[in-house]
Order: sequence, then C-alpha cells, then structure tokens
Amino acid sequence: MTSRRPLIAGNWKMYKTCSEAEDTAREIVKNLPDMPDVEIMIAPPATALAPVFSIIRDTPVELGGQNMFWEAQGAYTGEVSGPMLVSAGCSYVIIGHSERRQYFGETDDSVNRKINAAKAAGLTPIICVGETETERDAEKTFSVLDKQMENGLESLSADSFKGVVIAYEPVWAIGTGRTATAQQAQEVHARLRKFLDKRFGGDIASQTRIVYGGSVKPENIAELMALEDIDGALVGGASLKPDTFSKIINYKR
Ligand code: PGA
Repeated sequence: MTSRRPLIAGNWKMYKTCSEAEDTAREIVKNLPDMPDVEIMIAPPATALAPVFSIIRDTPVELGGQNMFWEAQGAYTGEVSGPMLVSAGCSYVIIGHSERRQYFGETDDSVNRKINAAKAAGLTPIICVGETETERDAEKTFSVLDKQMENGLESLSADSFKGVVIAYEPVWAIGTGRTATAQQAQEVHARLRKFLDKRFGGDIASQTRIVYGGSVKPENIAELMALEDIDGALVGGASLKPDTFSKIINYKR
C-alpha cells in the first residue's frame, strides 16, 4: 500500500461571481467532516480567489489558481503570476488544462515554463494531460501522453518535480458525462507512473499523486478511487454545487 494522500480538487472554470463563489465556499466548509479523509482544494476564477480565501483560510480546504503566467511580474496585460496567486491565498495551481490548450494556445513548452515558475513561487502545480477522442480511436493515447509528459517536464530534476500532481483528463470525458471506465483510467495511470519511474526514479514515482478528471460525480468517485493508481480527482461540473462536491469529498462515508 502507498501513503499517497488523495486529493479532491474542484475546478470552477469560468463560473461564479465573487458573491456566488463565497456562498459556495461557505456551504462546502459547512459540510466538511471533522477529519476529512482527503486533501481538498477548490479553484475559483481569479477574481474570487481572495474573497474565497477569507472564508476557507482556517479550514482544511486549500485554494488553487486555474492558470498562471511564468513571469513573476511585468507588462503582460491580463496575466496573473505565481507570486500573485500565493498572495491571494493559493497553494495550488492547475497548469495545462485541456481547455487552455484548446482555446488559449497553451503548449507543452508553456506548461514547462509554468511548472518551473509555480515551483519557484512555492505553489504545487497540477499538470493536466490527456488525449482527444480522435487520438484514442487511432490508438495514440500512450504516445500522446508520453509526448505531453516528456515535453512538459523537460529538464526538470527529480528534486524540482517532487510534489507535482499529475491529472489525467481524457479530453473526451471532460464535461461530456462520459467517464473513462475504471479499466481505461487505471491503465493510463499505471502507464504515467511508469513514465515517472523511468524519468525520476522509483521513490518519486510511488510518491506522486496522479488524479483523474473527466465527468467525476458522486456516482462514480468510489469506483475510481478504489483503483491502485488513482490518487484523487479533478472535478469540474460536479464541483460547482456544494452538496454534490461534498458527496464526492465524503465518498467513503
Ligand atoms: P468535468 O471537468 O468534471 O466537468 O468533466 C473536469 C475538468 O475539466 O477538470
């Protein structure tokens, strides 16, 4: 058995005004068990980070950014940096989400720069990888993931990788209601762990949390969490409603 503490993270994407985000955070906190079995993180939109932090700061719920730029400051209109996320209360940042790759030109190279910048700022990066439906159908899943991992983690030392979380998010499962089957998810997670083993060695591979994302809901969380190489979930749609997210956090109860 491993000692990896599971992480359940809620990615609110571009949903919720400040007051809506505060209400949701309040509800999540209200429904928290005394001793959560999992680490819990929520990633509201950038505008709601600081207000949400004021609600969760003395609770076990942690805060994450949904994206960041790799420079610490500068003339980069519209961007948010790692130190800025930290100053708003974040301990995590999601990097390379498929929606950023698809709509905002995120590449493995920018993912790589952002990982280094996040670590330098003291943030824990959650690196998203995943294949599209076309790539899966063409049996390219492993080669696509290998490339995203190789290029995204290029020239990172084992020491600087330590603590990074990997999120396997098959693009065809995001927001579609279609979850990867337990077998499909476990197969990919095991492969990702093998990659980490070759790249960084056995200790890092066995310590690294690899979470699953893509239509996670109260009905499928327990089955996913029972798999050997699944160490948590990155939850989109089902994290927007506090009662649904609480059910996911409390999947063991
Ligand atoms: P979903 O999104 O749970 O709505 O499928 C997951 C994600 O995009 O992280």
